[in-house]
Amino acid sequence: MNKKIIITIDGWSSCGKSTLAKQLAKELGYVYIDSGAMYRAITLYFLRNHIDWTDSNEVNEALGNISIEFEFNEKSQQSEIILNDENVEYVIRDLVIAEKVSDVAAIKEVRTFAVAQQQKMGDKKGVVMDGRDIGTTVFPDAELKIFMTADIAVRVARRFKEMFKKNPNTTIEEVQHNLEMRDYIDSHREVSPLRKADDAIEIDNTHLTMPEQLDIALKLTRKFI
Ligand code: DC
Repeated sequence: MNKKIIITIDGWSSCGKSTLAKQLAKELGYVYIDSGAMYRAITLYFLRNHIDWTDSNEVNEALGNISIEFEFNEKSQQSEIILNDENVEYVIRDLVIAEKVSDVAAIKEVRTFAVAQQQKMGDKKGVVMDGRDIGTTVFPDAELKIFMTADIAVRVARRFKEMFKKNPNTTIEEVQHNLEMRDYIDSHREVSPLRKADDAIEIDNTHLTMPEQLDIALKLTRKFI
């Protein structure tokens, strides 16, 4: 039996973190956790319930009414996010959420709430979690930390393709603006900003295919299990 470890994958928006994390988890028989989905679900709840997130009392009260779980969907063959018993996996990918999520994710109370749950999800190890602060704050002692990056033009093109499929009115300019804005807010916020952990290994996938990046990550993983 192989030793179970924790693998963290952090990096900029839309550089293929979740694609790699899902494939890696599948290969290893690990659980994949999309920490960004949690911030997106909280943002959805705040928007739907007209929460004024500049008011910490309102934020704390709202967080008390939020329950987040992940459930494996046999049909889609992936774990999906459940917000207060509702599957919100699809709606949280909307640009309306993407436009607000970095502001919500910068709130201290929101991060404390999400990080505590993320740490609990990793207590049995055998987890691949992707996000922005997983290797620095959530699991600073993780055995393997990956930091992903890719050229902005490549990231915009990838995200545009994804968003256009869902909504043909999406423009490349709005996708680029959204990615740049999120990268800026995520890396400049006060509480656990996006940064490469000192012991993280960087993968730049600008010129890599998906099988190539998976191969690199699997080789790295084998050093630890
Ligand atoms: O990975 P994603 O694009 O779904 O994440 C959405 C937003 O959530 C991202 O812009 C920043 C925030 N986030 C974060 O602050 N910390 C994480 N661990 C994951 C995501």
